[in-house]
Amino acid sequence: MAIPVIDFSTLNGDKRGETMALLHEACQKWGCFLIENHEIEGKLLEKVKKEINKYYEENLKESFYKSEIAKSLEKKQNTCDIDWESSFFIWHRPASNIRKIPNLSEELCKTMDEYIEKLVELAEKLSELMSENLGLEKEYIKKAFSGSNGAAMGTKVAKYPECPFPELVRGLREHTDAGGIILLLQDDKVPGLEFFKDGKWIEIPPSKNNAIFVNTGDQIEVLSNGLYKSVVHRVMPDKNGSRLSIASFYNPVGEAIISPAPKLLYPSNYCYGDYLELYGKTKFGEKGPRFESIKNKANGHY
Ligand SMILES: [Fe+2]
Repeated sequence: MAIPVIDFSTLNGDKRGETMALLHEACQKWGCFLIENHEIEGKLLEKVKKEINKYYEENLKESFYKSEIAKSLEKKQNTCDIDWESSFFIWHRPASNIRKIPNLSEELCKTMDEYIEKLVELAEKLSELMSENLGLEKEYIKKAFSGSNGAAMGTKVAKYPECPFPELVRGLREHTDAGGIILLLQDDKVPGLEFFKDGKWIEIPPSKNNAIFVNTGDQIEVLSNGLYKSVVHRVMPDKNGSRLSIASFYNPVGEAIISPAPKLLYPSNYCYGDYLELYGKTKFGEKGPRFESIKNKANGHY
């Protein structure tokens, strides 16, 4: 089963309808997909990965292999409640904390800032396409996520270090993501990410040509009233390599009030007699507009 690939270069041409349909299906049935031709320069993405890998080698690797996590695996103690990962979190929006993180070089900060600016544009574009596919106004998701300075954006930078006993531990245990739209720049060689689909774990291969992998979080599931899914995923450790994962979260701000988009909800609390009356006039039309009318009536906007 191949994960859906959304070719962004087709969004302005004849194939737009096809691509939009593919995106809608990916959001409904997979909760994840790959984006190709996203127009973020390969050179920038390579630099982000290079700088992060360098930071890991110089600052995190040694301490990871000396950590309690590594020791407990050596002793083959119970490892079902730990994750074999070395990670840290950066906030970009509404306010950046990147220059407060110890030992991040100015070069790395600048590269990340440049990358995140492009990634916010891509996330906003995606949020518009998803809103459109859901039949909502273009800015719906963006507005639902935003405070006075737009939506929140953060990045979890992680390495899943080479692991001597991969059968004993997870890189990251099974979970769904809390937030909105997650954009992942990941390793081009070492595998490990898996998504659960139709009762099976699907291996997400390493990303070639800097394709960006996207998945949707719990808030997209709630906002779409369950039409789009946040899907369970995990990371398996690798015996032969360390996997890089740079996952950026386009999320609601902390104070955002989230609920299913009213347009996507079934009508409720109406009088059946009113429905029948409306039905008599609209029986041979589509039920969607009828549901909308009865919803408006029940809400007093007749
Ligand atoms: Fe996740």
